[in-house]
Amino acid sequence: MRLAGKKALITGAARGIGLGCAKLMADHGCDVVITDIDVAEADRVAQQVSSHPAIELDVTSKLAWSAAIERAGDLMNGVNVLVNNAGIIIPGTVESLDEAGWDHTMNVDLKSVYLGCQAALPVLSRNAPASIINIASISSMIASANFAAYNAAKAGVHMLTKSVALHAARAYTDVRCNSVHPAFVDTDMVDQVTKTDDREVNRSKLARQIPLGRIATVDDVAWAVVYLASNESSFMTGSELKLDGGISTM
Ligand code: NAI
Repeated sequence: MRLAGKKALITGAARGIGLGCAKLMADHGCDVVITDIDVAEADRVAQQVSSHPAIELDVTSKLAWSAAIERAGDLMNGVNVLVNNAGIIIPGTVESLDEAGWDHTMNVDLKSVYLGCQAALPVLSRNAPASIINIASISSMIASANFAAYNAAKAGVHMLTKSVALHAARAYTDVRCNSVHPAFVDTDMVDQVTKTDDREVNRSKLARQIPLGRIATVDDVAWAVVYLASNESSFMTGSELKLDGGISTM
């Protein structure tokens, strides 16, 4: 029960890392509201993970953010944890990626975090101690020729996290903001960046790039999120937690 008394809104939680976080957080006593742009799937998983219905939230919409924060606050009698998890990847080099792909990546991966923090901070501060956890990526620190927009957006999330942390520390009491930086995680997203249709071949190719010899599980990320959501990390703000099997130390 490491998260007893915690009330979390998680974005992009219909599947993958967001869903894994929701499950592990709920296992540790957290009240959880699942949100996603795919509300049908979010609703389906919410029935297994949460005592609340899912909320439709397109993280690129300021209006949707205000409504979702208000609704989650009503459902849980407050919100004191925000997990900004929703994200996409559109592979492409600086020359091959079109402007629409660039803009969409920036909106879903970076602007969403600005909108989410802005919408949530007043509610989080009223329900402190509170924690914002931004799911960035090791791609905020290691570049790839084919991830021009994703690298730039995640680097933006990395530094936005620090700005939010400093603002929250000055403006409120006990409101923290940290980022998590996984390398390849076993979700649908890795299938979008791998070259063959064979899931196992793709995963073992990726694993060979990682010093620990495997890609991450969803739980590898969720454990870090449990820690950051809990009061165990109460002196940690503006920090980045790398979950990369050692790749960025090479
Ligand atoms: P996923 O593709 O399995 O799930 C992403 C979820 O976000 C889906 O449920 C999708 O419906 C939702 N989503 C997409 N656009 C949205 C929008 N506009 N509004 C609300 N929800 C939206 O991806 P995964 O792997 O679970 O990724 C979660 C986060 O982790 C992302 O921010 C991603 O960049 C990050 N990450 C993933 C890694 C990986 O290898 N899978 C590695 C490092 C970071």
